[in-house]
Amino acid sequence: MSILDVLQGNRGLMPESYKTLSVADMERRVAELKQKWGPKLLIPGHHYQKDEVIQFADITGDSLQLAQMAAQNQEAEFIVFCGVHFMAETADMLTADRQTVVLPDMRAGCSMADMANMEQTERAWKHLQELVGDTIIPLTYVNSTAEIKAFVGRHGGATVTSSNAKQVLEWALKQKERILFLPDQHLGRNTAYDLGIPLDEMAVWNPMTDQLETERDPATAKIILWKGHCSVHEKFTVDHVRSIRERDKNIRVIVHPECSYEVVQFADCAGSTKFIIDTIRAAEPGTRWAVGTEMNLVQRIKQQYPEQQIESLNPDMCPCLTMNRIDLPHLLWALEQIDQGEPVGVIRVGEQVRQEAVLALNRMLAIR
Ligand code: 13P
Ligand code: SF4
Repeated sequence: MSILDVLQGNRGLMPESYKTLSVADMERRVAELKQKWGPKLLIPGHHYQKDEVIQFADITGDSLQLAQMAAQNQEAEFIVFCGVHFMAETADMLTADRQTVVLPDMRAGCSMADMANMEQTERAWKHLQELVGDTIIPLTYVNSTAEIKAFVGRHGGATVTSSNAKQVLEWALKQKERILFLPDQHLGRNTAYDLGIPLDEMAVWNPMTDQLETERDPATAKIILWKGHCSVHEKFTVDHVRSIRERDKNIRVIVHPECSYEVVQFADCAGSTKFIIDTIRAAEPGTRWAVGTEMNLVQRIKQQYPEQQIESLNPDMCPCLTMNRIDLPHLLWALEQIDQGEPVGVIRVGEQVRQEAVLALNRMLAIR
């Protein structure tokens, strides 16, 4: 069932009765089902998930860790993925056919992944080939649909995550003269800049106007950035960094590379959700941090590392609304449906798309 089916037909939505259950009752029932199913059930949880869900996760991680885990797990019959749709699709493509991946709420999408569709991508590719010939390798952030990953796989490219973007870009630049980077312009720009590529060698492809935005000859563009972004991370601005530093000149600013180039340049450091956690964990006790990433994670690190002084870079905090759709009632509902032999939210990527998308995923997983 696609997300569209769910939204249009109101099918596959959790019954209202789950919303009136007490937390204690839900927690007890989830714990019992986990106990009953043992290793035949695996619950991966992305770092942005709510605590009420994360407490039941068998493994937590950033996108790369969760993809690696999916590729390695042989035992689980059901993988109840607590994250967003593209992550569950990736898990489905990297697990065996006998394993079933379930997303507890099919409405848990990613607005960034929706910023590149196949029609736009085919149009962009044709246009760019006419402009610069067969000189481009496509890369896609894992925050993209399985179809986009398949497109990239078909054209010799790879997926990237925020933890391995640098290595994958380095690899890609050995394959072809230039890169088309989908769909997050910020991760692409920040990573390429880190590798020493100047901003004037980067152009932006606008999928709304079908135009390459550059003041220079397109042939000089080494990196072509898709004009997409994360609606959560765009809410961190240079003004936030400035005002926090005015208040506290010793505070360290750490952000996710989905933030804009200006914010990343102004911050002390940038990296994936895992990098943010590891860096704060390893810091001297008493270090003051302003963190530019999703609010559930910021709040969790605050609780887990009370010896550090942690606050959000944006005082209004930024939740990822789609990540937040996975909550305790949805987790319980997904597990009870599995237990009754009627799983809901099953993610199954079609065979043709899977084969090509896996090429892109495996190229990424092979790069160290
Ligand atoms: P990570 O790979 O850093 O976990 O990021 C995933 C994501 O969606 C961030 O918005
Ligand atoms: Fe997508 Fe941004 Fe949410 Fe990550 S934080 S899942 S990129 S909308």
